[in-house]
Amino acid sequence: DIPSLKDVYEPYFPIGAAIEPHQTTGLVSELLKKHVNMIVAENAMKPSSLQPSEGNFRWENADRIVQFAKENGMELRFHTLVWHNQVPDWFFLDENGKPMIDETDPDKREANKRLLLQRLETHVRTVVERYKDDIKYWDVVNEVVEPNDPDGMRNSPWYQITGTDYIETAFRAAREAGGPDIKLYINDYGTDDVRKRDRIYELVKEMLDRGVPIDGVGHQTHISIHWPPVDSIIESMQKFAELGLDNIVTELDMSLYAWNDRSDFGDQIPDHILAKQAERYGELFKAFRENSDILSEVTFWGIADNHTWLSSFPVDSRTEAPLLFDKNYHAKPAFWSVIEAA
Ligand code: XIL
Repeated sequence: DIPSLKDVYEPYFPIGAAIEPHQTTGLVSELLKKHVNMIVAENAMKPSSLQPSEGNFRWENADRIVQFAKENGMELRFHTLVWHNQVPDWFFLDENGKPMIDETDPDKREANKRLLLQRLETHVRTVVERYKDDIKYWDVVNEVVEPNDPDGMRNSPWYQITGTDYIETAFRAAREAGGPDIKLYINDYGTDDVRKRDRIYELVKEMLDRGVPIDGVGHQTHISIHWPPVDSIIESMQKFAELGLDNIVTELDMSLYAWNDRSDFGDQIPDHILAKQAERYGELFKAFRENSDILSEVTFWGIADNHTWLSSFPVDSRTEAPLLFDKNYHAKPAFWSVIEAA
């Protein structure tokens, strides 16, 4: 019998996993019960899942995940109220079905902006009111900063139509609907990158100065066995902690390939690659543990290598093995080095 991740990390932070509704039963659910005490929906709580058409809220899949967490004494994080992906088109169409981003008339643009912010507010309030007693941690906005886009803000329909107002509206509506006890996060990938990190910092600081309720930063932490340096991940957390913010690791996984590598190990992942992954996971968790005063959750984007979004991104259907358990749910070398790092 192997040790339990969540028990070993009990003194430091909860250990989480992203799951799909079907993973609440069967063998994988046993693995989850043993090793994690935090759950997040991989897809079931995104806007496209919860409100596929206007006013038509679908709760069934999300509820299954909430139920599973409650039955097993796990905490939950909500992912995500706002994103530029997996958000239905209807949000961004005006009353005549015309894309709001195509509008050139200034009065119509202003009316569209009000309409979009109102739709957003309805979405946020409805969802937060439903789950506020079950879910304490909330990804309010996801991936809104992009250093290469205008003003360093991701040039999504949200931004093109409302500027940064959508971010402010989402946080304020979440706080108003959820009360003071829920924790509100801005979530992003590549937060170790200095340009990205500094732009998020600037945005959050400016919002906090205006009283926008932001409690912390979610670091997705989709990394590879090569990149980025562990120090850069920790330095980013330290910088946000100086603003009085909480840090959480929200989507941890570790690709076997460099970002620009399009090769495929196929059926045979070399042992030295798995050893390298183990070494790096160990280094990472040692740093997490040493910084647990500024880090309050570590969640993996999955639990075992048979189910990982990386198998279809950025190269479709290649072999990826980014997690601590292999596709047969056996502990990998990386599991053991994470245990040793505790
Ligand atoms: C991914 C899911 O894992 C996939 O199943 C889905 O097809 C696309 O989205 N960053 C995020 C997550 O914030 O929501 C993404 O999840 C992975 C990248």
